[in-house]
Amino acid sequence: MTDYDMIVIGAGPGGYACAIKAAQLGLKTAIIEGRDRLGGTCLNVGCIPSKALLHATHMYAEMNKNFASIGIDVRDSAINWPAMQAHKNSVIDQNTKGLEYLFKANGVTWIKGWAEFISPNAIRVSETVYSANNYVIATGSQPQVLSGVLIDETRIVSSTGALDFDQIPKSLIVIGAGVIGLELGSVYARLGCDVTVLEYADEILPELDQDLRKAYVKLLKKQGLKFILSAAVKQSQVDVDRITVTYNDRSKNEISKIHSEKVLVATGRRANTRGLELEKAGISLATSGIIPVDAQCRTAVSHIYAIGDVIAGPMLAHKAEDEAIMVAEQIAGSEPHLINYHSIPSVIYTHPELATVGYGEARAKLAGVATKCGVFPFAANGRAKAANCADGFVKIITESETGKILGAQILGPSAGDLIHEICVAMDLNASATDLAAVSHAHPTYSEAVREAAMSCDGKAIHFI
Ligand code: NAI
Repeated sequence: MTDYDMIVIGAGPGGYACAIKAAQLGLKTAIIEGRDRLGGTCLNVGCIPSKALLHATHMYAEMNKNFASIGIDVRDSAINWPAMQAHKNSVIDQNTKGLEYLFKANGVTWIKGWAEFISPNAIRVSETVYSANNYVIATGSQPQVLSGVLIDETRIVSSTGALDFDQIPKSLIVIGAGVIGLELGSVYARLGCDVTVLEYADEILPELDQDLRKAYVKLLKKQGLKFILSAAVKQSQVDVDRITVTYNDRSKNEISKIHSEKVLVATGRRANTRGLELEKAGISLATSGIIPVDAQCRTAVSHIYAIGDVIAGPMLAHKAEDEAIMVAEQIAGSEPHLINYHSIPSVIYTHPELATVGYGEARAKLAGVATKCGVFPFAANGRAKAANCADGFVKIITESETGKILGAQILGPSAGDLIHEICVAMDLNASATDLAAVSHAHPTYSEAVREAAMSCDGKAIHFI
């Protein structure tokens, strides 16, 4: 006799979705979480709190930079940092408490503490041993350590500390021009902080098509972000009045130094597997530190599954959630829907937002696929002009022979929402012609998606 049908380890977006779905499907389910609050990185120190700060600082930037041009005269605007932090904290509170309620309502048991396997069939939390027919490892990830730059979460911070500065820093060096660096760099640039982003690669976000990247970087620079590319950060030195970051300028192979009040290290994340005693469960890690799984997220031990950031693929909350639902359905014996990894979107929540899915034009070319692309600028979209946010464009990539949609890259207002129209089209194997035939309400930003689809055949209405 086991204690549960399923035990999930980790209550982030992967783990909590898996536990709730399993309970809804009739499984006796427990979830083990060691933090005081449910929700994992995403709800506590990641996606959600960063969005609270991104939203608040965007409003402030709009008020200062754009309100006058639409006829609103604002005087005496000021930042109340403690109030902004309180708003962020209250959002965290609402979401994590909401999860506790959902667990109770669905009959999911929360076992508080940190889990370790003692065998393939048993888990220990503190001194208590639990057993289940199936286990799901959903322990997420943590910031990657950068040798020579010691994170103290006060002056040299990861994304966690960057959400909690006691004061707005006057200057900030961001190491890494990835998603975290650009989002949190934007937050502080909008608040008047002098932000410099150091990036190892020769260009930012190499998976983007050149046209989109160029437009994106131009907009970020206009907002005050400074970029130093080809910069391999070597070390940092913390002094009383400043921090010095030393990097190798790879273009000249020269050592350079730069100073700031605070430093954010945003050079990627690594899977959280330490302390789980996976070897006692019979599971070995891949050399990259992730847990190897098959297409159904099953590990080498058939009743133990792993999902989210601890396995291969993009470290995205919604990817973890997709895997969570698939695994719960599988264990419950219902027909699992398989995941189409190609149609998982990715969004950077700067302003404007940048959203991508599937192939870009360059990646399709690399894969040897002949493409036809359709582009439509928001400058030709009536709603975007009315809302004074007409920067950016929609680009749809299709297979030239069939017209089938292979992907899209969108820079512009609500790009993170618009991209889902493309995801649905891709999942349904639709062509650009199919998408262009669907009625789109006027005036909406979504019309730009339809027009980009039309322009795949060279026929947009509002753009030549
Ligand atoms: P990332 O992998 O997106 O970017 C890290 C950047 O750091 C890369 O461009 C890399 O070239 C650079 N880098 C690495 N070592 C360096 C060095 N020594 N000197 C200078 N630059 C260096 O990682 P990031 O931004 O930390 O995000 C971690 C994960 O969290 C990602 O998988 C991301 O997708 C996910 N995430 C997703 C969000 C979203 O969907 N909106 C928000 C936040 C995080």
